[in-house]
Amino acid sequence: MRKNRKGIILAGGIGSRLHPLTQVISKQLLPVFDKPMIYYPLSTLMLAGIKQIAIITTPQDLPKFKKLLRSGKQWGLKFSYIVQKKPNGIAEAFILAKNFIKDSPSCLILGDNIYHGNNLSNILKEADEDKENSTIFTYQVKDPERFGVINLDKKGKPVKIVEKPKAPKSNLAITGLYFFPKDVVFRAKNLKPSKRGELEITDLNQSYLSDKKLKVKNLNRGFTWMDTGTFDSLLEASNFISLVQNRQNTIVACPEEIAYGNKWINKSDVKRVAKLMQSAYGQYLKSFIR
Ligand code: TTP
Repeated sequence: MRKNRKGIILAGGIGSRLHPLTQVISKQLLPVFDKPMIYYPLSTLMLAGIKQIAIITTPQDLPKFKKLLRSGKQWGLKFSYIVQKKPNGIAEAFILAKNFIKDSPSCLILGDNIYHGNNLSNILKEADEDKENSTIFTYQVKDPERFGVINLDKKGKPVKIVEKPKAPKSNLAITGLYFFPKDVVFRAKNLKPSKRGELEITDLNQSYLSDKKLKVKNLNRGFTWMDTGTFDSLLEASNFISLVQNRQNTIVACPEEIAYGNKWINKSDVKRVAKLMQSAYGQYLKSFIR
């Protein structure tokens, strides 16, 4: 039997670039316009059709995430909560989540990454279909030296990945969304900490690349990808979401709407949530079940 892919949202870290904002609250609980940041990566996993999701965060923030997101049943989901004691690196997620992943394929998304664009759901589902290879997503940026960067050969095949290169060989940043086959836990366990003392997602991706099991999909300019880890990018993300929503009279990353669209919840489930919210968000929930 084919196993369903499990989702992981990595929502720990220090958020040092956002101090003092993140001194007493997790970055991924901060608002991006009208909803907590974690709603965006959560919605991306839901658009991929993923229902079993682990949230990894710090010991101090875990109770707040539980209070906000609960069991997931309200959206037809099942959440597991996992603690990361220290930010030992993105790839540590797979070691921490090994009992959750078991022998399923998985998909990791960083809790501060926002994806928005036409056909996103189909692109994600296509990546989900391939259970043997890993899939990563690139995005053209003007400051590649801030990211993991991949360069491709003339045929578009990946050659090498370098973390925060001083002299980047391309402007293709690797974004914070990774689809892996079931052997990811085994591979993560074999990683050695880098010079900065972290288990690097770059090394994990490089191990699939070396075995010719890494697929690279570029998100073109019709897409918006943002990570919201700095003051400027946090404000820009809020402005972007506000602009899109107000212009189109829609809500970006509304888990109730996605769950309803996927037939994971019904009208009365949405009504129940709407009743508890007096905000414009609550009004919106009433609008799409009419
Ligand atoms: P970063 O933005 O690299 O780290 P950070 O969130 O701690 O922020 P700063 O650099 O300002 O200190 O992390 C990317 C995402 O991954 C973010 O959502 C936090 C998360 N993360 C973890 O949960 N655990 C980790 O060990 C690391 C490295 C990151």
